[in-house]
Amino acid sequence: MAKQTNIALFASGTGSNAKKIIEYFQEHPSIHCSLLLSNKKSAPALAMAASKGLETKVISRDYFYKEESILDLFQEHKIDWIILAGFLWLVPTYLVAAFPNRIVNIHPALLPRYGGKGMYGMHVHKAVRANDEQESGITIHYVNAKYDEGAIIFQASCRVDTEDSPTDIAKKVQQLEHAHFAPQIEKLML
Ligand code: GAR
Repeated sequence: MAKQTNIALFASGTGSNAKKIIEYFQEHPSIHCSLLLSNKKSAPALAMAASKGLETKVISRDYFYKEESILDLFQEHKIDWIILAGFLWLVPTYLVAAFPNRIVNIHPALLPRYGGKGMYGMHVHKAVRANDEQESGITIHYVNAKYDEGAIIFQASCRVDTEDSPTDIAKKVQQLEHAHFAPQIEKLML
């Protein structure tokens, strides 16, 4: 039997990407979503993941940045990969070092543009609109210790029409995220 690959998901909000990923791998022969962690105890992603049988955990800043005991949790669950699906905290260097090229993020724009601290969610789409861009898209990339600067794995783009509002752009980008994130993760792991 193939070795099981275990994923820990991180999400700060709704968790629509986390949901797609969990559903994509639900019947997978070798890839399993084990844990979902959030920095926000009100994040809908937590209830969604719990309803699908994942163990969930709310993390504090001290737990994430100072204690390093998250490594024990990951060892206990034999976590192989960490997937950031709308997670807004910077990943600490000890975690990047413990999972070299095993932490992946999705960003709702075509990096290297529209990335960096403060560039998340609607802030990104508003900036894209304000600059009259004709396209936007998604970037799936490895995570290093700087916001949105790790090596790019995959990008897909969509047209931005002159009449598109930031909300319209967000919808187009989300469609790309939902179509590509889980299959790209699978490709990396197989
Ligand atoms: C997604 O669009 C993701 O790309 C973005 O947050 C959203 C989460 O949506 N991430 C960032 O902006 C990271 N810089 P979701 O909770 O519905 O998956």
